[in-house]
Amino acid sequence: MTIFQNTKIISITNQKGGVGKTTTAINLATALATIDKKVLVIDFDPQGNASTGLGIEQNERNEDIYSLLFEKNTFKEVIKQTKIKNLDVIPASIDLSAAEIDLANMEEKTLKLRYLFQKNQFLSEYDYILIDCPPALGFLTLNALGASDSVMIPLQCEFFALEGVSHLMNTIQLVQQNINNELEIEGVLLTMYDRRNKLSELVEKDVRNCFGELVFNTLIPRNVRISEAPSHGKPVILYDLDCMGSQAYINLAAEFITRNENKNLKKVA
Ligand SMILES: Nc1ncnc2c1ncn2[C@@H]1O[C@H](COP(=O)(O)OP(=O)(O)OP(=O)(O)O)[C@@H](O)[C@H]1O
Ligand SMILES: [Mg+2]
Repeated sequence: MTIFQNTKIISITNQKGGVGKTTTAINLATALATIDKKVLVIDFDPQGNASTGLGIEQNERNEDIYSLLFEKNTFKEVIKQTKIKNLDVIPASIDLSAAEIDLANMEEKTLKLRYLFQKNQFLSEYDYILIDCPPALGFLTLNALGASDSVMIPLQCEFFALEGVSHLMNTIQLVQQNINNELEIEGVLLTMYDRRNKLSELVEKDVRNCFGELVFNTLIPRNVRISEAPSHGKPVILYDLDCMGSQAYINLAAEFITRNENKNLKKVA
């Protein structure tokens, strides 16, 4: 069962490192917030990159997703406002690196986050909750998938793009069978696309053959402004609105919304 009627929860997941998960979480969230959607980003990675990229200082991370998971703090205590209107974040501190072991020792190993959501109905004030997963298929990612309506999978346009994806798909299937049977695949997103490089084109063809309509039409280009933005504690959309990277994430948000509207129309038809 979906947890909130009007709030969509999306995990951004790929156990491969450095494929654009965090960049996508930050910038899709920002693009949605700028069109007046209320968005919460959950930084579910001990690296804390989403927190940094959204301008949350280290000293603001003492009350974090770890202290929420283990009920030392409430949602209201850990949710921080960002400088962007309509966009909040639950940051991660390095404490979160203990969570894999701590969750393994808990009874509700894979469903802790889901139970916390269920107990906090006020979260339905958000239109979207985006969970930025760590590069692993451990208990953190399982908790994210267990609590989500859908999963978005960024794939970097490089030779090994599809390596490990079958393992991710198996994990999604196991989650669907055992902990969250309504989990859907939101889509596959091609990131760091380089038009000058034949390889990007080949990877795109392969991925579209493999996943068909699940692949977003929007391609995220390799763009240096995207990689500069986090060091300024800003999403690229605020750092340089006109660059190709920002425009791609704005297009992604539009495509994401249209796809969801079409899905909802099909459900009522
Ligand atoms: N489209 C892009 N163009 C150029 N650089 C990019 C792009 N997307 C991401 N990057 C850069 O690539 C690096 C990895 O991106 P990101 O942190 O989003 O990946 P990730 O999947 O979250 O990584 P991890 O698995 O470590 O959490 C970062 O330095 C980021 O700034
Ligand atoms: Mg990341």
